[in-house]
Amino acid sequence: MNNQDNLKRKSAEKAVEFVKSGMVLGFGTGSTFNHVLHVLAEKLNSGELKNIIGVSSSKKTERLAIELLIPTDTLANNPKLDLTIDGADEVDKKLNLIKGGGAAHLHEKVIAQVSEKYVIIVDESKVSNSLGEKWAVPVEVIKMALTVEKEYLQLLGAEVKQRLNDNGSVLNTDEGNYILDANFGVIENPKKLARKLEKRAGIVEHGLFVKMANFVVVAKEDGVEVLER
Ligand code: A5P
Repeated sequence: MNNQDNLKRKSAEKAVEFVKSGMVLGFGTGSTFNHVLHVLAEKLNSGELKNIIGVSSSKKTERLAIELLIPTDTLANNPKLDLTIDGADEVDKKLNLIKGGGAAHLHEKVIAQVSEKYVIIVDESKVSNSLGEKWAVPVEVIKMALTVEKEYLQLLGAEVKQRLNDNGSVLNTDEGNYILDANFGVIENPKKLARKLEKRAGIVEHGLFVKMANFVVVAKEDGVEVLER
């Protein structure tokens, strides 16, 4: 495990301390969240945790959960979640987030909004003073509206790129939409920007998570810090 991986694992271990037997969990997506699944699998195997069910936010997460023999179910069967744990791409001092580096922010926001508690896990490299310092805002758009949404985001001041897969092909989300990565630079008012994106038909969901996280677990070289909103 390299150093960053080690920090991700530490944040995952801390977040799993929020999990109690019998809980219905929301499962996030990404390399940091994957550590949560490994820690959960270990605790289920040892008997330290029992009767956990997870609702996955992506096909990738679902596949890993099944591989690790962690029980999963649909959101339809579990419309209320006790706790969702997820990673993030950037976190500001008010615990607002940019998410969607793994193109799963639509499903991630759906499970977050029906969770009693929402715990985000990051390593210290993802913390910034203001959102947008480090990361563009992922915006999921319907295919038919690709060009006009790109123009809309540019009008709002962003530099916009369509997300591609590593092999250069166009990325399709789990819902069959496209992602536009909109780089706004430093975002002075994430809530205001979020509203502008939400009022626009053709934009399905954006990666600004404003006032949603209850806790952010930050793994640092010198220990793990739990921030509460
Ligand atoms: C998935 O769409 C994202 O929101 C991820 O949670 C986020 O990109 C963090 O991913 P990593 O843990 O892989 O950095």
